[in-house]
Amino acid sequence: MKKEVRKVVIAGNWKMNMTPSEAVTAVKETAALVEGKTGCDVVLCVPFVDIAVAAEAAKGTNVKIGAQNVHFEAKGAFTGECSASMLLEAGAEYVIIGHSERRQYFGETDETVNKRTKAALAAGLKVILCLGEVLEERQAGITAEIVSMQTKLDLAGISAEDLKNVIIAYEPVWAIGTGLTATPDQAEEVCAIIRNVVCGLYGCCAAEALTIQYGGSMNDANAAELLSKVNVDGGLIGGASLVPAKFAKIVEAAQ
Ligand code: 13P
Repeated sequence: MKKEVRKVVIAGNWKMNMTPSEAVTAVKETAALVEGKTGCDVVLCVPFVDIAVAAEAAKGTNVKIGAQNVHFEAKGAFTGECSASMLLEAGAEYVIIGHSERRQYFGETDETVNKRTKAALAAGLKVILCLGEVLEERQAGITAEIVSMQTKLDLAGISAEDLKNVIIAYEPVWAIGTGLTATPDQAEEVCAIIRNVVCGLYGCCAAEALTIQYGGSMNDANAAELLSKVNVDGGLIGGASLVPAKFAKIVEAAQ
């Protein structure tokens, strides 16, 4: 496995935090701290209402803005949803799809994750596709089966060309917001399993080029060790991304 052939991406997932004015301040602070850190791509995935102002604040910096969900239809009677073209025009380049909180609280399934991913890619967004096992699945020893199945179902029908705009974020659900982090070896093991599945689906060149992030209580203290693993190509960071100084340290660890 050659880490040099793929991009390292450090992405923040703000979840339901930051009003528009708070977002502008946080984007500017983050951008100032990560200026010149060209060893990885830096993305902040913000609430829908923050996208436009965050994109404006990020102009001319190396911070890119993403959304946290997208609907699969182009327009219509889907109260509360946003289409890919809306996100793009507002200034998003990335979108998180299939986060475990969406799966857990909002009925997201591998089928809807797949539909959202296709729509986002067709519109020109880059997708951060989240998957991972829950605690019971890990304890039952079926983590490999679960992430393999999610990878196959979530990527069904997506072309090799479109895969170039996909990042997979391995987020063990038991590690999200809990302070429990997968050990670097656990993260490496599962990221390698996912890469192996992608190799079976698209060939090993495509798999080697795929960025696979780890997410789940990644912070400024544990990032360097997690990122040192050959199959861990970045991080998707929740809590620590809300504090520019902490997030910038993770970006620093990725250089
Ligand atoms: P925490 O970093 O807060 O555990 O959240 C991880 C996550 O869900 C990122 O998408």
